[in-house]
Amino acid sequence: MRTSFKAALEKTLEGITPAREDLVTLLEATDPEEMNTLFSTADATRQRYVGNEVHFRGIIEFSNHCLQNCLYCGLRRDNKKLRRYRMTPEQIMKACDQAATAGFKTIVLQSGEDTNYSADTLADLIWRIKGKHDLAITLSLGEKQVGFYQCLREAGADRYLIKHETKDPELFARLRPGTSLEKRLDCIKELKKQGFEVGSGNMVGLPGQSLDVLAQDILLMRELDIDMAGVGPFIPSEHTPLKNSSQGDLYLTLKAVALTRLALPWCNIPATTALGTIDNRGRAMALGCGANVIMPNITPPELRRHYQIYPGKESLFDGQENLSALVQGMGRKVSSGKGSALENRLNYRTQIRKEGVSIVF
Ligand code: 5AD
Ligand code: SF4
Repeated sequence: MRTSFKAALEKTLEGITPAREDLVTLLEATDPEEMNTLFSTADATRQRYVGNEVHFRGIIEFSNHCLQNCLYCGLRRDNKKLRRYRMTPEQIMKACDQAATAGFKTIVLQSGEDTNYSADTLADLIWRIKGKHDLAITLSLGEKQVGFYQCLREAGADRYLIKHETKDPELFARLRPGTSLEKRLDCIKELKKQGFEVGSGNMVGLPGQSLDVLAQDILLMRELDIDMAGVGPFIPSEHTPLKNSSQGDLYLTLKAVALTRLALPWCNIPATTALGTIDNRGRAMALGCGANVIMPNITPPELRRHYQIYPGKESLFDGQENLSALVQGMGRKVSSGKGSALENRLNYRTQIRKEGVSIVF
């Protein structure tokens, strides 16, 4: 007999690595009361281990050029309809100045896989940003050589986002032609080794993805012991081969966010832009079921609409005042710190010692 929802949830709360079949049982839940129980349990776990604060990360999408051809993404190289742009280091610096003035403590520099920026150019920029502002720098530039990562780390970059996208190696290879899950995971491990705080994550509702694979996504992030986990719905993007596929489900994504919180209590988990794009309550709902980070888009407004990974993200209401009001309206506090995963891990350890939970990592 299959484990019941209640038994699966209790087992998942024991602090040990969750069982794959229990995660599947919890992902299968569609009864509103059961889903609410899962969401409030994840919310309580977030409160206990990483607290009430919500960290804001300003994201600067500085180039939409990409040499990859992922079937799901509007930045893929075969999309000739997209107007491509690159910000100069001076433009990026200006966006960072504005971010610092606006009170951000972390900025995320994101681009497609664009070889136009050398490691030296980026290192010089990072060095200058760190010298001028008290900002944590997160990079999201895709797969690079070991030496490239090293150069950026030495220049002072703190964190790196590189989602594993899906734990299914065949699906990965099909959706990302010419690349492999193995190589992606090597990048994640290398970045961790170099001392970056590393964010991974996956998409929910990719064509051909099963609930069992979603459970494996969560277990993989735990196994990799990652610091940040971005879980968002797949959104079909025009001018891509998957334009007619169906969109990832809001509630399935929220269940995956909640389970990620239960499986990785120390993690920084964003209420993703993709969730906010498929439903205007999406980000608030994610903050209510485990998320503790929000990533407002601070790309210059005239460029923003060209960073078309998927449609609709550019019209998201990302004004800081609105997002602060959203956070405060939920009884949460806008963080004034950098919100590093190291702090979370320390809080987590202190808390579990207090609670006498025996098994952790
Ligand atoms: N829908 C949702 N997320 C997407 N990404 C790329 N394309 C899509 C899409 N169509 C996500 C991937 C990638 C990040 C930059 O954006 O997870 O890592
Ligand atoms: Fe490029 Fe990333 Fe989009 Fe793939 S998902 S096409 S690597 S920007």
